[in-house]
Amino acid sequence: MIYIHIPFCRKKCLYCDFYSVTDSLLYDAYTKALIKEIESVKGTKTDTVYIGGGTPTAIGDFLIKIVDAVNENLILSDDCEFTVEANPGTVNLEILSKLKKRGVNRISLGAQSFNDNELLSLGRIHNSEQIFESCDLIKKAGFTNFSLDLMLATPHQNMGSLSYSLECIKKINPPHVSAYSLIVEEGTPFYDMELALPDEDEERDMYYYTENTLKALGLYRYEISNFARPGFESRHNTGYWKDKEYIGLGAGAHSYYNGARYSNAPDVCAYINGEGRKVEFTPISEKERKLELFMLGLRMSDGVEYNGEFPERVNPLIEKGLLEIVAGRLRLTKRGTDCANLVFMEFLND
Ligand SMILES: C[S@@+](CC[C@H](N)C(=O)[O-])C[C@H]1O[C@@H](n2cnc3c(N)ncnc32)[C@H](O)[C@@H]1O
Ligand code: SF4
Repeated sequence: MIYIHIPFCRKKCLYCDFYSVTDSLLYDAYTKALIKEIESVKGTKTDTVYIGGGTPTAIGDFLIKIVDAVNENLILSDDCEFTVEANPGTVNLEILSKLKKRGVNRISLGAQSFNDNELLSLGRIHNSEQIFESCDLIKKAGFTNFSLDLMLATPHQNMGSLSYSLECIKKINPPHVSAYSLIVEEGTPFYDMELALPDEDEERDMYYYTENTLKALGLYRYEISNFARPGFESRHNTGYWKDKEYIGLGAGAHSYYNGARYSNAPDVCAYINGEGRKVEFTPISEKERKLELFMLGLRMSDGVEYNGEFPERVNPLIEKGLLEIVAGRLRLTKRGTDCANLVFMEFLND
């Protein structure tokens, strides 16, 4: 699995703490440095490539150069899932067709909402009309596998406006949807703002309403926040939840291989100067790895294979009705899904 980070956005959204900057003068130098890092892993075999951000489509033809470097240096399996994240307002038919021609076979589009007042209060650069336009272009360019990101429990959102967003999704008919509930992250503008947010019960109602509506459209929930038509589950993200190893390239990218974690510094200028590569190194013990396998695997609807490991952590959660064992697999119950973070905390190392 290969993850490539493009740390550029046209404008920072008010809630986002992912690493990205808005300085377009750095596109060229960053692309050159990134291509060097791609060349440094020449010959690596992979069955998924994910170019995320930031906003990969914000950098236009620099993105095409990066995709070319991927194809020239890495060995992609015949059925490789090759995803590029895109944002409405930054795509056109030309760039999408160029990506398609080069083997990209999945687009993940950050729609977030179809209500313009919600998009505005999130600080997004696009409006609802542009989501429809982008989806038309994605289909026109020949992509049959694409995903829309939605956000739940955001300012101004209510069941009526969520229902409208889901009706729009029905019209577009994507084979995959991700729906994340807003997390107000420290250090983002939202953190310092007085926000009128849906309360916890409303957030849960929105989540289940989204799940049921998408189910009626043939998209079943296969992970806490991810829904797909059978066969369209994200193979790359499923790899993370199954604790597979991956190589991350680009500023701020994380890697996990040979039983250790590494990260590149989230600093574009240092990255361009060839500094800050794989700066943090954390070896992972066998026990930590097993705990992580549970924590990540429990995100999946079908859970993880269970053979009685960590009974001191698992049994109390079963007694509280948060976990259950079904056909030899440990998984979250409905109650467990509602307070998943509490369950995951039990699997953090101590
Ligand atoms: C880092 S973004 C990258 C995709 C693309 N740049 C975009 O914004 O559409 C990945 C997704 O994470 C979600 N996300 C980002 N920050 C979030 C937050 N604070 N709370 C909940 N979801 C968030 C959004 O749905 C977003 O589409
Ligand atoms: S949510 Fe996406 S577009 Fe907005 S700042 Fe974050 S990475 Fe950029």
